[in-house]
Amino acid sequence: MVDQIIQSDGLIKEFPMGGLFKARSKDPFAKKRVLDGITFDLPKGLSLALLGPNGSGKTTLLKTLSTIYSPDGGEAQICGYDIVDEMKEVRKLISFVSPAMDFQKKLTLKQTLDFFVKVTNGDMALARDFIEELQLDHLWNTKLETFSEGQKAITRLCVGLQKNPAILFADEPTSGIDFRRKQIVLDFLEKQGKERTLVLVDHSPDVVDQLCDKILLIALGGTVQGMVDVTKLQNEFNYMYDIMVIPKDQMTEKIAEKIWHRYEMIGGMCRFFAGSRAEVTDIHDKIIEWGGFIDFKTSGISIEDITLMWLAKHEKELEVKLEEERKKVKQAEQEKLAKQAKRRNKRK
Ligand SMILES: Nc1ncnc2c1ncn2[C@@H]1O[C@H](COP(=O)(O)OP(=O)(O)OP(=O)(O)O)[C@@H](O)[C@H]1O
Ligand SMILES: [Mg+2]
Repeated sequence: MVDQIIQSDGLIKEFPMGGLFKARSKDPFAKKRVLDGITFDLPKGLSLALLGPNGSGKTTLLKTLSTIYSPDGGEAQICGYDIVDEMKEVRKLISFVSPAMDFQKKLTLKQTLDFFVKVTNGDMALARDFIEELQLDHLWNTKLETFSEGQKAITRLCVGLQKNPAILFADEPTSGIDFRRKQIVLDFLEKQGKERTLVLVDHSPDVVDQLCDKILLIALGGTVQGMVDVTKLQNEFNYMYDIMVIPKDQMTEKIAEKIWHRYEMIGGMCRFFAGSRAEVTDIHDKIIEWGGFIDFKTSGISIEDITLMWLAKHEKELEVKLEEERKKVKQAEQEKLAKQAKRRNKRK
C-alpha cells in the first residue's frame, strides 16, 4: 500500500545549451540544469499547486513527472510506479494538459473527443458532462479552427479529463477562460474531490485556494524553496492587499502600530497588510489622517508572496524538521552499512 501518490527524490533535468550560450561555451556538449534535485512527497488524497517565478522550472517539473521528459538524475514514483522503469503504468494513470497542446484544426469538438476517448480508453460521458456544464454543447459539431482561446483551453481540459486520470497534471489550465466559466471549471474539478489528484501550475489565488491543499514553491535554478499547507497560509495570512507607504521622514513602529496592526518595516518604508477592501479604506483614512507620507500605493498580494512570507516566518522550525530528516537518512544509511558488514563477516 502506497501512502504517497507522488514521491520525487532529487529529480534533475538538464537541457543542451543552445544559441549564444553554446557559442560561448568551450564544451560543445555543455548542458543547462533546469531542475536541480527536486525532492518532495505528496500524500494520497491531496492536490498540489506548483508556484515560482518565470523560468524556475515548473513546466519542466510537470513534464518530467508526466513522463514527457526523462530525468537526468534522481528518481520519482507516481502511485508507487517509477517514472522511468514503469513509464507505461504511470502513463495509464495520468493526464497532462498544457497551453502548448494543439489539435487537428479540421476536426470538430466531437471528432476530437471521439479520437481521444478511443486511443486512451476514456469516458465519453465524463467529457460530455464537462462540455454541457460549461454550456458549450452548441460547439459539438464545430471545427476547432474556429475556437477562441478560452474554448480551446476548455477543450484541452476536457481531453485531459475524459481519461478519468488518477492524477491530472495541468499547466495554467484556466488561463484564457472567462470569469464565469472559470468558476464552473473550478466547481467541476472540486466536485470530483478526492477521486482525482490535481497538480497544477496556476498563479491565481482563487484557483489555488479552491483546488489545492499544498503549495510547492520552486526557486530560480530549479530547487525546492519549501512546501506549505494552503489552510495554514489562509489561517495565518488572511491578506489580500498590501499598502506600501513612503514616509517623508522616518516612520516609527509606534506610528505604524497606530495606523494598523499588520505591518512590516522595509528599510525606511512601511508595508501594511489588509484582508478586505473595507480594511484598505480604513488604512487609507488613517494614513491620510497621519499625513507624514510622500506617497502610498495599494496592490493585491500574489500567492507567491504570501508563501514566501510563511516560509520566512517558519524558517527556524522548518530547519529543525529538515535536520531531523537528515539525521533519519544518516541513521538509515549507517544501519544499512552495519547490516552489510555483518553479512560480509558471516560469509568469512
Ligand atoms: N526544451 C527546452 N530546451 C532548453 N531549455 C529549456 C527547454 N524548456 C525549458 N527550458 C528552460 O528551462 C528553464 C525553465 O523553464 P520552464 O518552462 O520549466 O519554467 P516555468 O517555471 O514553467 O516558467 P513560466 O512561469 O514562464 O511558465 C527556462 O530557463 C527555460 O528557458
Ligand atoms: Mg511554465
